[in-house]
Amino acid sequence: MYRNHTCGELTLADAGKEVVLAGWVQKVRKLGGGMTFADLRDRYGITQLAFSKDYNEDLYEQANKLGREFVLQITGTVQERSSKNLNIPTGEIEIIVSKLTILNASELPPFTIEDETDGGEDVRMKYRYLDLRRTPVRNNLELRHKIAFETRRYLDELHFLEVETPILVGSTPEGARDFVVPSRMNPGEFYALPQSPQLFKQLLMVSGFDRYFQIVKCFRDEDLRADRQPEFTQIDCEMSFVGQEDVLNIFEGLTRHLFKVIKGVDIPDFPRMTYAHAMKYYGSDKPDTRFGMEFVELKDLTTGRDFVVFDSSEYVGAICAKGAASYTRKQLDALTNFVKRPQIGAKGLVYVRYEADGSLKSSVDKFYNPEDLKKWAEHCNAEPGDLILIICGETEKAQKQLCELRLEMGEQLGLRDKNTFNCLWVVDFPLLEKDEELGRYFAKHHPFTSPKEDDIPLMDTDPGAVRANAYDMVINGVEIGGGSVRIHNSSLQKKMFEVLGFSEERAQAQFGFLMNAFKYGAPPHAGIAFGLDRLVSMFAGLDSIRDCIAFPKNTSGRDVMVDAPSTIDQAQLDELNLKIDIKA
Ligand code: AMO
Repeated sequence: MYRNHTCGELTLADAGKEVVLAGWVQKVRKLGGGMTFADLRDRYGITQLAFSKDYNEDLYEQANKLGREFVLQITGTVQERSSKNLNIPTGEIEIIVSKLTILNASELPPFTIEDETDGGEDVRMKYRYLDLRRTPVRNNLELRHKIAFETRRYLDELHFLEVETPILVGSTPEGARDFVVPSRMNPGEFYALPQSPQLFKQLLMVSGFDRYFQIVKCFRDEDLRADRQPEFTQIDCEMSFVGQEDVLNIFEGLTRHLFKVIKGVDIPDFPRMTYAHAMKYYGSDKPDTRFGMEFVELKDLTTGRDFVVFDSSEYVGAICAKGAASYTRKQLDALTNFVKRPQIGAKGLVYVRYEADGSLKSSVDKFYNPEDLKKWAEHCNAEPGDLILIICGETEKAQKQLCELRLEMGEQLGLRDKNTFNCLWVVDFPLLEKDEELGRYFAKHHPFTSPKEDDIPLMDTDPGAVRANAYDMVINGVEIGGGSVRIHNSSLQKKMFEVLGFSEERAQAQFGFLMNAFKYGAPPHAGIAFGLDRLVSMFAGLDSIRDCIAFPKNTSGRDVMVDAPSTIDQAQLDELNLKIDIKA
């Protein structure tokens, strides 16, 4: 028996008990005067060990030689501490050690393994197994486990079956870039790693598994961001004999259940917002609705005063930042620089200060008189003390820029509290998206997403205006999940491929197996997938999904701990029939 208690559970109620503990030495404190303390850590907490020269000189000497991260087994007696630490559950007791076994020594770790560490990001990534010993990192993984476990329990109760789908699949050019795997047995041919189990889950519906789910790794060769990893985990679901309403209700139920049991938070019914509304008032299909500051269009009110910048713009839009009229010139310049950064790309920023005394001052006073500004302010529902910020340009671009500005102002004014959760469904996404350069339409979600029945005739006349039975779950401005009702009718599917510019042969070559399967009685079906990493990060209040993944990749897609990706031997290349010719 290595231990009979953990380092996180002993309290005053255990005083007098003899216990055996095992764990890692977090810190040794030599007090002098014949007393040394060591903090022993395991997954469950920290317990203070006390070594007194008077009590046992031998043990005291040994304790003074312990290094950080040594692995120990100790036997001792629980005793009330004289100086208590009420911040931890075990802070009122210590163990008077009577037996000490060093199970393993440790080299000095490259950073301190404590809640507040001295290790930088890179070194912690390289020694991720040590970083995982730290409580905040471990807490994130525990939370991840709880969310996954609770999801399984909830879906199991609703008769969802977890079915595994293959990891070596065929490459499909739609969507993000694939990671590919050469096939030794089929020279010149490649598998792809799945971007999602989409096609397989639809096949499972044809097979009659009317409620499927899977907590599953997905792979996408995309540029990385704080909320994107090349391999990430989905809670992937599909249902038969359902429509959009059923899917929204079931998965809203799951999300509210997770918030309740894991965070103790009651979430009200999710509001629904159309894609068109989200774009018009927030400039984003994943609006952060923790705060208002919706867009107000000012084009009509600004035209005709010889201000060419506004007059020549398709769109003039404003946001009203409550109570921000006190922004200094320097702060306004900083905001202007913020929107002019290449990542955002606005040409400039116009402001109107609604001073506390009711007067209005703007950066375009030369062109607009106080009555004009008053009208804008009224239109924006502004009050004295507010700041109106205006961006203009081509509609879609200007709305995106205004969206970034809105989020930044939300941040600066403290309106994006991590402990407030605003969930909603964004519905009625467009079915198609036009790539202006290539002059063709792409499926906004994927080619199996069904159009809204009323909009089907538009597929011939105005494909860009067709709305889809597609939906996203958005929480605090993050796309947590997305899905759609699928096409299960082969003539509609054929039409969809036509609009996407797929020849019959190409559609057959890429998706033939699904289309063939659909000939044998495909039920009406619909589904959704959640980003588990994003959900966990949201619950934990993390800035990056990396922090809730045990062994994540860095921003260049590298695992710096195992040093992957890496080159492979010539022999291995030969076996795979691969010739590598890297251009410098
Ligand atoms: P979609 O592509 O919207 O839909 O993905 C579903 C959810 O997965 C998460 N996600 C990611 N998380 C981390 N890193 C990434 N690179 C990444 N990419 C996506 C997001 C997203 O909402 N098969 C469809 C679902 C369906 O129609 O049922 C699909 O994959 O949270």
